[in-house]
Amino acid sequence: MGSDINPRLKEIMTSLVRHLHAFVKDVHLTQQEWEVAIDFLTRTGQICSNERQEFILLSDTLGVSMLVDAINNRRSIGATENTVLGPFHVAGAPQRGMGEHISFDGKGERCLFEGRVTDLHGNPVADARIDVWSDNADGYYDVQQPGIQPKWNNRGIFTTGVEGKYSFVGIKPVSYPIPHDGPVGGMLDALGRHPYRPAHMHFIVTADGFQKVVTHTFVGDDHYMTSDAVFGVKETLVAPFERVDDGVTVWRSSFDFILTPAGE
Ligand code: BEZ
Ligand code: FE
Repeated sequence: MGSDINPRLKEIMTSLVRHLHAFVKDVHLTQQEWEVAIDFLTRTGQICSNERQEFILLSDTLGVSMLVDAINNRRSIGATENTVLGPFHVAGAPQRGMGEHISFDGKGERCLFEGRVTDLHGNPVADARIDVWSDNADGYYDVQQPGIQPKWNNRGIFTTGVEGKYSFVGIKPVSYPIPHDGPVGGMLDALGRHPYRPAHMHFIVTADGFQKVVTHTFVGDDHYMTSDAVFGVKETLVAPFERVDDGVTVWRSSFDFILTPAGE
């Protein structure tokens, strides 16, 4: 390497080459296996588009996304943990009033999501922005079915009031497969892995003076909780889903988001 290069780049590339060579020696990679790897990476790149990022999916399914997230978001005990963002977040969802509905396709079991946003001491955080999104009852996000699902189906942005409270009505999410019709799906198949994620509701919680939380709440009794295709499950993110059956709403899920001060 040159003498005048970025020191961080030097550190990263030195380690990468060391580990890459150790890996090749460890498995005694054959010429044919090297060709398979090149072909796999080539196809992974070729299927990428503005709508599809197969390399991130590869990182997700190898557990690398969660590892990078864990290293970069170490928080105090009690603070809400992060998990994987995933490819289906869309910026600019409609801002909705407290208690409003976000599900517009008439499918699924209605679920009230509610809770509070607080700091580490339990004090309410007002004006926190809560960006939420989930799949529909068929296991697809609206962006996967343009023209079939209503635009912004199962998405919305909510702002907490003085008591830090939030509430909205969506559906109880269902488990679904990550996109598996490309090279990553082929890899999962070859490894005897299924492509499913356990049912979850996505949240991004932001508030002035606090660290951004990119997370989900999980439906704890989901079949795939112990084998999430992208390793996103964390025990602290399991939320209660209680049957209420009041004639309109079938489920209620209460979950508080506990924020860490910025810079901590
Ligand atoms: C998701 O939860 O939306 C997701 C996360 C990682 C990969 C694919 C989907
Ligand atoms: Fe998801």
